[in-house]
Amino acid sequence: MNGSSKSARGGFASRLGFMWAAVGSAVGLGNIWKFPYITGEYGGGAFVLTYLVCILVVGLPLMYSELIIGRRGGKDILGALRDLTKEAGLPGTLLSWLTGAMAVLTGFLILSFYAVVAGWAVHFFVLSVGGLELNGGAGETFGALVANGPLAAIWHTVFMAITIFVVTRGVQGGIEAACKILMPTLVGILGILLVYVAFTGGLGESLIFLFRPDFSKLSGDAVLEALGHTFFTLSLGMGVMVTYGSYLKDEIHVLRDGFWVAVLDTVIALMAGAVIFAVVFSNDLEPSAGPGLLFATLPGLFVGMPGGALVSTAFFLLVVFAALSSAISLLEVVVAYMVDEFGVLRLWATLGMGFAIWLLGLASAFGLNMPGFLPEALGGGQAVLDTLDNLTTKYLLPLGGLLIAVAAGWMLSKQDRESGFSALPGNGGLLVSSWTFLIRFVTPVLILLVILKGIGIIDFSD
Ligand code: TRP
Repeated sequence: MNGSSKSARGGFASRLGFMWAAVGSAVGLGNIWKFPYITGEYGGGAFVLTYLVCILVVGLPLMYSELIIGRRGGKDILGALRDLTKEAGLPGTLLSWLTGAMAVLTGFLILSFYAVVAGWAVHFFVLSVGGLELNGGAGETFGALVANGPLAAIWHTVFMAITIFVVTRGVQGGIEAACKILMPTLVGILGILLVYVAFTGGLGESLIFLFRPDFSKLSGDAVLEALGHTFFTLSLGMGVMVTYGSYLKDEIHVLRDGFWVAVLDTVIALMAGAVIFAVVFSNDLEPSAGPGLLFATLPGLFVGMPGGALVSTAFFLLVVFAALSSAISLLEVVVAYMVDEFGVLRLWATLGMGFAIWLLGLASAFGLNMPGFLPEALGGGQAVLDTLDNLTTKYLLPLGGLLIAVAAGWMLSKQDRESGFSALPGNGGLLVSSWTFLIRFVTPVLILLVILKGIGIIDFSD
């Protein structure tokens, strides 16, 4: 299919290039910041096990769906869905418009606050390089940063500038080239940190906490949190994998590559968790510190460790790298949309959209609140950062995932649906039917549960 126009849009140079970019998108603050702290809050092993099941029954089927839709469409998310519904003979323009527009909007909103949190990591990286002198402890240092709008805005700006720069360079020369360096370095640093904590203590306890399930601690809420996190951590529900899939050259490897992306993402989250909890336990602290775990707890513990400033430098460099390759993918969805739908030059699309996202991000950086006249559901009076995080993770991503599942399960032709399995022995027989069953029935129902929980219609909290 339209091979020439595809090469004009660019694409990944190699399979490995695609892999690094997709893993780069998936591995981010979700793995290193969010996964450890929600695991800590929900009590460890049983939550981890639930999360692994969610990756298997919701994450993987959806990952494959996005990649195959993108691969066959060869366009941004809106264009791919529009062609898909048209070919299926459905009056689906409205649906594809809604899904596509929502995806682009979601990317826009996520990146605006994601870059601010990443900016905090840059701040701690710079502090660590400077010898990790914390004035009055990590909690205070973090509190002072969050309260200091201009300072947070500076790091937000630095981070956005780098992200924009990479994306202007294009898929191959920018995204692929950056991720090919960022990701292996990240795995290397994480490996070294793991070895380090194996010697400084706490690793055994940390592994027990992560892998010994205590089901008495598992609530319905924890299950839905695990499910919601599956979207975020695998970059699903807003077309990142559709967009990256559109740069793929054939469908032979879609299945296997998607599988490896999910495996690597999961392994890296577990490694990060193992390192973080080892530090926490070796200092006799509780793992349930919440969102502040990464910024308000860890640096304080690094200070007391042998070679602490160096460890801290490596650690926050890791966080910044992880966040950067994810931010790139968020911006790329928005840019691909401008390029493919409106024929804007990549350079201008990236600069324009990047600027707009940066501008919106300032609201989070300065700790502004949403206008008080808004209803509570839209975050009236709440911090912009928290509101955007909630709005996107709890509603927009699951909703996008639901629509993509419906499109993949019910609108793709049989041939397209199965094309990614064709390289398997017997054309994937049992796997194809399992995937079809999951994506048609199981995934949509589970996603609906997440959304209903988000709206507060169901509540499992006890
Ligand atoms: N997956 C990334 C993380 O874990 C974040 C991310 C990048 C993302 N692109 C996304 C989340 C698209 C949702 C949708 O940090």
